[in-house]
Amino acid sequence: MHSILIIGCGSIGERHLRCFLKTGRCSVSACDTNAALLTAMQERYGVPVFASLDAALAESRFDAVVICTPAHLHLPIAIKLLLLRLPVFIEKPLAIDSALVPQVREAIVQAERFVAVAYVYHLMPWMAGARDFLKTGELGKVLHASSISGQHFPTFRPAYRDIYYARHELGGGGIQDALTHIVNVTEWLIGPCTRVFCDAAHQALEGVTVEDTVNVSARHGEALVSYAMTQFQVPNENTLLINCEHGSVKIETNHQRWGLIRIGDKDWTWHQTPPMERDDMFIAQANAFLDGVEGHDTLLCTFEEAVQTLKFNQAALHSSATGAAIIIE
Ligand SMILES: NC(=O)c1ccc[n+]([C@@H]2O[C@H](COP(=O)([O-])OP(=O)(O)OC[C@H]3O[C@@H](n4cnc5c(N)ncnc54)[C@H](O)[C@@H]3O)[C@@H](O)[C@H]2O)c1
Repeated sequence: MHSILIIGCGSIGERHLRCFLKTGRCSVSACDTNAALLTAMQERYGVPVFASLDAALAESRFDAVVICTPAHLHLPIAIKLLLLRLPVFIEKPLAIDSALVPQVREAIVQAERFVAVAYVYHLMPWMAGARDFLKTGELGKVLHASSISGQHFPTFRPAYRDIYYARHELGGGGIQDALTHIVNVTEWLIGPCTRVFCDAAHQALEGVTVEDTVNVSARHGEALVSYAMTQFQVPNENTLLINCEHGSVKIETNHQRWGLIRIGDKDWTWHQTPPMERDDMFIAQANAFLDGVEGHDTLLCTFEEAVQTLKFNQAALHSSATGAAIIIE
């Protein structure tokens, strides 16, 4: 049995707490600076709770830690844990800037412990299936991709005005909070983004000023890629079309399926995933993290992959602010 500490028990922290418990492979403790929330975790799940990370580390021993605080705290907390040689699982986005990236990279080398980032789309079977197929190279080079995604954020996160989402410097806004998932998984499928032109604006969400609507024209190496995303639209849909030399792959997350069409085919051949609850993906992710802690290979987003997506986030924000296209080195 592993002993896992969850730091930050807000929306996603509570989900991790519940889903790590559901693996049956670990005990879980909770840490949050919000006393009322901590009491709720204790009452709901009967787990040990700690009012601060320092208290948790002083009073108990853990085999690994899941960092679920707002993004500006991810890397400072990760450094502290890596110095104690603890494996860490870090929520997305990795950070709000790359200032601490070299220090964390060095701390990972010194700690010799498993580190991964919770870009959960890696655990969607339809993404992994499409990726496995693309990796065969059967369709030739990827030449173009387009992503259309969105949801009605106020329905899914009614508290959006009062959380990190309202401020860029806490990891908020549509680019760092939502588009980052899509770009990270697209990079996982077709390779890293190398150039970004981003047009973003606040179009609709009441009570905030951060962008809720984003258009990006990007290059991922030789592939031209477009992303369109809104957080006010009614349909909760997410489609990625990848056009290659000899055919196309389409991923429809809202239908939990991916499809293939080759030149000459009349219609798509779909690969449908059996129905999944939202927690299933997070239980799979928790299991993958525990696998990684035990030294096994996983599909989880690596630290370096998350650093690359952090570069995208920063480049997109910069492009949107300046109107310039940004090269990502
Ligand atoms: N993977 C996903 O699908 C997903 C979904 C939602 C959020 N997230 C990410 O997870 C992170 C947290 O998001 P959230 O929606 O749970 O936010 P939230 O505001 O609901 O929760 C954050 C919690 O962290 C606690 N906290 C802040 N500083 C702390 C500290 N120093 N020590 C202990 N606790 C502290 C707060 O009290 C709060 O309860 C963000 O980076 C966000 O982007 C990921």
